[in-house]
Formats: sequence, C-alpha cells, structure tokens
Amino acid sequence: MFGSEAPPEAKAGVEDVDLSGRTALVTGSTSGLGRAAALSLGRLGAEVIVHGRDEAAGEAVVEEIEAGGTEARFVAADFERPAAVSALADAVRESVDELDVLCNNAGGLFDDNSETALGVERTFHINHLSPYQLTAELLPTLAPGARVVTTASVAHRFATLELDDLAALTGLSSWAAYCRSKLANVRFATELARRLDAADRGVTSNSLHPGIVPGSEFSRTLPAPAPQLGELVGELPVADSVEDGAATIVYLAAAAEVADVTGGYFARRRRRQPDPDATDVAAGRRLWERSADLLGMDEPLAEADV
Ligand SMILES: NC(=O)c1ccc[n+]([C@@H]2O[C@H](COP(=O)([O-])OP(=O)(O)OC[C@H]3O[C@@H](n4cnc5c(N)ncnc54)[C@H](OP(=O)(O)O)[C@@H]3O)[C@@H](O)[C@H]2O)c1
Repeated sequence: MFGSEAPPEAKAGVEDVDLSGRTALVTGSTSGLGRAAALSLGRLGAEVIVHGRDEAAGEAVVEEIEAGGTEARFVAADFERPAAVSALADAVRESVDELDVLCNNAGGLFDDNSETALGVERTFHINHLSPYQLTAELLPTLAPGARVVTTASVAHRFATLELDDLAALTGLSSWAAYCRSKLANVRFATELARRLDAADRGVTSNSLHPGIVPGSEFSRTLPAPAPQLGELVGELPVADSVEDGAATIVYLAAAAEVADVTGGYFARRRRRQPDPDATDVAAGRRLWERSADLLGMDEPLAEADV
C-alpha cells in the first residue's frame, strides 16, 4: 500500500469511517497534500471547507468533492494578512455550527523572507502565526471530540527558534526560515494539546511529518539539487506520494484509534519522538504567549483562565 496510488483513506485504514454530519476545514487545500486530504475527507462524508489563495484551484477541489455527493465550499485567505485569517474564521463560523476537524496545513518554503506588516519574517508568519491565529479564533467553534491536525515537517529537527529574532534576519536562508517555522508548528501543536487538556475541552491536537514528496510544489521549491534528486528518488518504490503524505493527515483526522491521542508527532501514521526542543514546556509557553503578543490578541486558553 505504501508508495501505491491507493487513496489516503485506504492507506490510513479509515476507508470504513463515516464522517457524515462532520465538518472539516483543510487549510492549503488548493493543491498538494491539503488537496488530497480534503478530497479524502469529502469521500468519507465530511462537509469540507477548502482554503487557499487560488480561487480557480479551490473551486475545482470543491467541484470534485461535491461530485462525490458531499458539501464543500472554498474560502480564500492570504496567510500573510491577519485580517484575511479573521475573515476565514468568520466564514467558517457562518457556514458551520461546529467544526470537527481543523487541518492546519497551508504553508511552504518561500523565496522571500522579508518582513510582513506585523514586522515578522514572512515564512514564520505564514507557516506558524496564521495557523495559531486561525486556531485561536476557531476555538469556540471546535466541537467536543474535535481534532486539530498540524502539518509540520522533519525539517523541525534542523532548527533553533529564538523568540527575540522573529523579524527577517539578514542572511537567513529560505530553508533556515522554513525549518524554524516547522519547529514552531510542532511546538504549537504540543502546547495547544497541553492547554486543551488543562481546559478539559475534549479536543485533540497532533502534528505530523508528511514525508518528502518528490515532485510536489513544495519539493520543487527546495534549494538545488534537492528537486532534481527528488525527481530521481520519485522513480523509486520507497518515495512518498502525495497520497502517502495526506494519509497521515487523514489518519489523525479520522482514525478511531487516535481519537483520544493528543500532543503527539506522527510520520507514516506512527507516533514518533520529535526533537526535544519541540516539546519543551517552557519553550512552548513562550511561543504561545509571544505569538499572541505579535498578533495583538488576547492569549487563547490562557493558563490563568483554566
Ligand atoms: N511536500 C513535501 O514534501 C512536504 C514535506 C514536509 C512538509 N510539508 C508541508 O506540507 C504542507 C503542504 O505542502 P504541499 O507540499 O502540499 O505544498 P503545496 O502543494 O505548495 O500546497 C501549499 C498550500 O498552501 C497554500 N498556501 C501557500 N501560501 C499561502 C498563503 N500565503 N496564504 C494562504 N495559503 C497559502 C497554497 O494555496 P494557494 O496556492 O492557493 O495560495 C496551497 O494550497 C506545508 O505546510 C509544507 O510545509 C510538505
């Protein structure tokens, strides 16, 4: 099954799970892993909110989901803009009473690591701050038993994250910016799990590494010679496909065996040990508080309130 073209739900062993009556938001589902995960959750019966910036691509995913008989809609939001993230959260609240699955998947490796309007390095803003903001704004909408699934990367192991250097750093490469944003993803998902638990919300939070998917949009933006090597590796039966990567997302979103598992980091549907820096409680707390500060928002799930 691994490396085959079987759909993500079959690879994840959840093809018999019925998500009818459930709702899911998959960010970054106009292409790649998010698109494959959104289509898969739709096939399992969930009503899916598709997100990205490319309207034509988003509407095409919606059509494909609806052709399978389930409801879907596309909401555009640019994750460089906090107002757009808030508008996405508003649109979700307007279209569903409760959200059962939130897949924080949008992101990538970007050539431009200049500062966004918040004075934050762009990759960190798109890959970490916006999912943090979106999750915070959707917390009241998450149903009991909901699952938050964050697409991180093994790249988190190659990073350090100093919270006093979040502005664009002279000489910071795209890859270094990417790695630290992915460390933030695992730290965020772990800290979210800890705070959801303390608040007794009955909502889980896990992160994952989807594999290195040769030929994906993401892989094409890796520094040379990685894309060329990736194309070669893509010919081998050991390579991860888009379906393999999406399968871990779908597994965490739908499998009964992980319904109560929280604070984990997964790869190829198995729980793995992330870098210790990603699960350090003091570091998680600092990232949480600093992220709220940067966004000018009240700290969600503040420890004093739980
Ligand atoms: N592919 C891999 O090998 C790999 C490995 C490890 C981790 N990952 C992670 O997997 C996730 C998905 O990657 P992928 O390979 O599927 O890449 P992809 O095909 O490039 O998809 C990225 C998605 O994110 C959205 N996105 C990008 N920038 C955005 C922005 N500023 N605002 C809103 N949406 C934005 C894109 O939407 P629009 O184009 O419509 O804006 C697209 O839907 C990412 O978080 C990536 O870091 C991928």
